[in-house]
Amino acid sequence: MKQVKFTQMKDGTREEYEFLTAHEIDHTRHTADRLLKALVELDESLSGYQVTRLGHSLQSATRAWRDGADTDWVVSALLHDIGDIYAPYNHDEYAATILRPFVREQCAWVVQTHGDFQMLYYGHHLEGFDQNKRDRHRGHPCFDDNAVFCERWDQASFDPDYDTLPLEFFVPMVREVFDRKPYDPEVIRPGQRAPLSDPVRAAERAA
Ligand SMILES: [Fe+2]
Ligand SMILES: [Fe+2]
Repeated sequence: MKQVKFTQMKDGTREEYEFLTAHEIDHTRHTADRLLKALVELDESLSGYQVTRLGHSLQSATRAWRDGADTDWVVSALLHDIGDIYAPYNHDEYAATILRPFVREQCAWVVQTHGDFQMLYYGHHLEGFDQNKRDRHRGHPCFDDNAVFCERWDQASFDPDYDTLPLEFFVPMVREVFDRKPYDPEVIRPGQRAPLSDPVRAAERAA
């Protein structure tokens, strides 16, 4: 079979749906490659900053790496603004939707709401923005994680002079994350929090 015969889903046969499922599985194997390509396309978006969007993403991931953060955190930092391409008004939710099946729940939540936390740094300069928008998340178990994520990795990563690691450095980590079994409880670990910084790992990586 090269193609299904149906023109309406309700007319499909079991054989056709098995054929389509096999195709879909093959397609999902290349998610990491498509995301890496999208990251490079980020380079062309949002001019005006001293670093490109790709530069900002790489710098955030580099800072996470140098803090000794685990792979879930590093990849989340790398992809946290990937929604800028197609979802400028909810780029955080968009990125979280991509990450959610493959990273710890903690990281997905932080990415999903980082836009509200980031407002702390610029909301007071703009009409109609709430600098304290993050306050609506007070009481969430990962509130402090998001505050640290934004302070150390996101808002700090617009420095053109920072020694940022190249995309190639992060490729194996992106592949590892998107090769995981989606929604694996061992990965999602609901309710569990891993620290953003690990001084021992950070020292090893700096050596
Ligand atoms: Fe963002
Ligand atoms: Fe960002």
